[in-house]
Amino acid sequence: MKKFAASAFFISTLALGMTVAMAAEDPIASRQAIMKTVGTATKASAQMIKGQVPFDAIKAELAMRALNAAAISVVKFFPKGSEKGGDTQASPKIWQDMKGFLAAAKRLEQVSAVGIEAVKGGENPFAEDDFKEVFNDLVKTCKGCHQDYRIEKQK
Ligand code: HEC
Repeated sequence: MKKFAASAFFISTLALGMTVAMAAEDPIASRQAIMKTVGTATKASAQMIKGQVPFDAIKAELAMRALNAAAISVVKFFPKGSEKGGDTQASPKIWQDMKGFLAAAKRLEQVSAVGIEAVKGGENPFAEDDFKEVFNDLVKTCKGCHQDYRIEKQK
């Protein structure tokens, strides 16, 4: 059952990767699809942290890897000219302060990398505690970037 949950999560991540590839022509849809993966991986982690589902090192590692890949790839989908359109929630501040935005993405990349190490291969006997600690830092990186660089849907 555990294995099934982890592989179902992995397959949905793969499917999302394909969606992203197909949406490559549309940067807004692509970055939103990537952020949706981020949301899914974070929710899966939160459920383990809260004890709603049992901690599973493999699932935790997959979630951290999904976040890490998303942090690296999402920044490629904010080209000039994609400030407006669709139902983007990207703030114009991104293009005024690209350095700050990239630094915020870097923080997510780094914290998720720490997360991968904490739970890697289920070898760490303290994985569950370490994972909880990393998760607190992780949520701060979401909030930090959203506060500065994400706005309500444009009307
Ligand atoms: C580097 C900045 C940055 C970081 C870090 C970041 N986000 Fe986002 N997020 C954004 C931006 C910008 C958007 C809006 C994208 C758009 O609409 O064009 C967004 C949108 C979203 C969405 C909505 C996607 C949709 O359109 O359906 C979710 C969910 C989300 N983020 C979750 C998270 C979570 C959870 C984390 C932390 C693990 C996180 N984000 C970290 C910048 C960031």
